[in-house]
Amino acid sequence: MTAQQTELPVLPSDLKRELLPRHVAVICDGNGRWARHRGLPRIMGHKQGVNALKEILRTCNDWGIEALTAYAFSTENWKRPVEEVDFLMTLFQVVLRQELREMMKENVRVKFAGNLKALPAALQEQIQNAMEETQNNRGIKFTIATNYGGRQEILSACRAIAQQVEAGLLKPSEIDEEVFERHLYTAGIDDPDLLIRTSGEMRISNFLLWQIAYTEIYVTDTLWPDFDRNQLHKALSSYQQRERRFGKI
Ligand code: FPP
Repeated sequence: MTAQQTELPVLPSDLKRELLPRHVAVICDGNGRWARHRGLPRIMGHKQGVNALKEILRTCNDWGIEALTAYAFSTENWKRPVEEVDFLMTLFQVVLRQELREMMKENVRVKFAGNLKALPAALQEQIQNAMEETQNNRGIKFTIATNYGGRQEILSACRAIAQQVEAGLLKPSEIDEEVFERHLYTAGIDDPDLLIRTSGEMRISNFLLWQIAYTEIYVTDTLWPDFDRNQLHKALSSYQQRERRFGKI
C-alpha cells in the first residue's frame, strides 16, 4: 500500500517520522535584506515573505508536523517607519482574507498570539473571523505571533494570576508551571521542539521566552523569503541528529 492510500504524509525518505518535531517555530527574519539585495523596496521583501510562509505551512502540514508558530510582528516592530508598519498591517489583513478558503481546504487551525487589542480594528475582525472559522479544523495548528513580545506575555500572565490570588481564587502555593502556561497566549499548544531563525542572527528577539526552555535552535544564513521546502528539509535533518536530554545525562 502506498503512503497516500494509508493517508500517511509523504516525507523525504531520509527523514525519520518518529523523530520529527511536533511543533516548529520560526523567526522570519531577513525580508528587508532580501529586497535590498535586489534593489527593491522593503515591502517587496515582506510580500515574498508571505509566499515563503505559505510554502512552509503547507509543507509542515503535508509532512505531518502538528504545529507551526511564526513570528510576524513583534511589540518592538512598531518602531519601524510608519509606512512599513501600515503596509504590514494591511498585508496581514489581505493575506488572511485571501488565504482563509485555502486554509479551510487544508484543514489548518489558525491562532494568534500577542496583544491583539492594539491592532487596527479591521485586522482584529479578520483575526477573530479566521480563528472562529478554522477552530474545528483538525490539521496543523498555525499560530501567528502578532504584536507579540515574550516579556510582555510573561508579565500579562503574572498580572492575571495575581488578580486571581487577590480575588482569593488561587493560593500562591498553587502557582506551578501548568497554571502559568494556562495564562500564556500559547495556552493549549505544546512547547516548540525546534526553533528556526533565518538570516543568520544569533538572537531570540523576545520570542517565546518561556516556551523555548528546551527547544532545539537552528540558525541559517538564508533570508526568510528564500526559505523553502528544501531549506526546511535541511533544518529537520539537523534536528534529527540532535540528542535531546532535557537536563538529564
Ligand atoms: C522581519 O524581516 C520580518 C518581519 C518584521 C515581517 C514578517 C512577516 C511575514 C513573514 C509575513 C507574515 C504574514 C502573515 C499574514 C502571517 P526584517 O524586515 O526585519 O528584515 P531585515 O532584518 O532584513 O530588515
